[in-house]
Amino acid sequence: MSINVRKGKAYNDLDYDHMHKSMDISAMSFHRLLQSAEKLDVFNEHASVVALTYIAAQRVFPDYNEMAEAKAFLESIARSYGYHLGKNKKIRVNTISQSPTKTTAGSGIKGFGAFYNYADAISPLGNATAEDCANYCVMMFSDYTRMVTMQNLFHDGGFSNTGVSKEVMEKFA
Ligand SMILES: NC(=O)c1ccc[n+]([C@@H]2O[C@H](COP(=O)([O-])OP(=O)(O)OC[C@H]3O[C@@H](n4cnc5c(N)ncnc54)[C@H](O)[C@@H]3O)[C@@H](O)[C@H]2O)c1
Repeated sequence: MSINVRKGKAYNDLDYDHMHKSMDISAMSFHRLLQSAEKLDVFNEHASVVALTYIAAQRVFPDYNEMAEAKAFLESIARSYGYHLGKNKKIRVNTISQSPTKTTAGSGIKGFGAFYNYADAISPLGNATAEDCANYCVMMFSDYTRMVTMQNLFHDGGFSNTGVSKEVMEKFA
């Protein structure tokens, strides 16, 4: 959740107090949660932790603004804490990088409608829906994924590995 995005601040005109708060809410909160849970010893052995992220952590999507940095931060915490929790209690920590999805948060991104359609046209399987994402999360909580940890898992219908699609090429022919 980015304060700068909410306030309509452009990436090259960020308010740094807002940015601190955005990092705190969208990334450091993940560390706080894991650290508190570990100290209170609430995790079972082989527990599974999942956070949701977006490919703007790796590639530039200009309107995602400072959330790109927040997601990169979040993914890094998943890797680092995944190491410690794995060593200590065989707990796995992963992030799922989801397709654009029509939710309250998703629709807060400028030009989301056009972007949603673009991602759908690029991805060989189309955009993954919210329900598909929920199913993937359930799988990550199951015993079938006990050895998967410290990963950023793309759940995006193939978007992340596709350069261009026939549908998009046809628009430029
Ligand atoms: N929607 C997308 O296109 C998309 C794509 C990839 C990843 N994600 C990620 O998925 C996750 C869930 O988002 P969503 O799309 O389901 O949106 P959503 O708006 O349905 O859910 C966001 C939730 O965050 C809560 N929230 C907001 N600010 C908060 C705060 N300061 N403290 C505590 N809770 C707060 C809201 O109450 C809401 O329940 C987010 O991390 C988002 O970045 C979304």
